[in-house]
Amino acid sequence: MSGQSEHNTKTLKLIVWRQAGPDKPGRFETYTAKNITDHHSFLEMLDVVNEELIKDGKEPIVFDHDCREGICGVCSQVINGLAHGGQERTTVCQLHMRLFKDGDTIYIEPWRARAFPIIKDLMVNRGALDKIIQAGGYTSAHTGGCPDANSIPIPRPEAEYAMDAAECIGCGACVAGCPNGAAMLFTGAKVSQLAALPQGQVEAAERVVAMLQAAQDCGFGNCTNHYECQAACPKGINVKFIARLNREYFKAQF
Ligand code: SF4
Ligand code: FES
Repeated sequence: MSGQSEHNTKTLKLIVWRQAGPDKPGRFETYTAKNITDHHSFLEMLDVVNEELIKDGKEPIVFDHDCREGICGVCSQVINGLAHGGQERTTVCQLHMRLFKDGDTIYIEPWRARAFPIIKDLMVNRGALDKIIQAGGYTSAHTGGCPDANSIPIPRPEAEYAMDAAECIGCGACVAGCPNGAAMLFTGAKVSQLAALPQGQVEAAERVVAMLQAAQDCGFGNCTNHYECQAACPKGINVKFIARLNREYFKAQF
């Protein structure tokens, strides 16, 4: 067994963005990742590299992670120029090293966007997305106790549409992939999810205006239909939710 995994190990050259703090200069540094198997996830590969750095008395590479199951949205890294590594519908934590060949060179960078300042190395502050949610990504109606499941009938297509929008995990890859650093796919998903449901109707107009204003205040850019957001999204959020966002904003003017 051990012979088999030894046989399958690979060595990779990593070119990693290192930055000591928000106002410090950043630079690429080169590392060697040894004894990496097909079964390691990308984050486990970085764990292996960090173990070696710690053993050598060097600073480990700082990166964000939490669930490692593709559901929390924090593992934000640009790998070989693509947010989350470019594999369709895959977060960095779910990207596996079987995709890379022995001897490959891999470039690893943080999300690059004006609204996401770098905290350290690969870790960025994505709090601007929270500010958009705080501006209106909720319903404030007092609904009392937990209602019965089917007390508000919702047609299946609307329920499915809302669930598709609700798949957004708030990772920010859409922002990192966008040449304008726009948060339109994220905001569109959050607005559409609520706009599709009866509970979201009451505050629909105030919500869309407030969330778009918050996005602008946070320094996100505007959508110019590049579709890079959809390509970068690990959850397959569709640009149709940006169209819905625009329609909701238009309706809110009357
Ligand atoms: S729309 Fe997709 S890429 Fe953007 S924050 Fe949501 S899950 Fe991440
Ligand atoms: S660590 Fe939670 S989605 Fe990757």
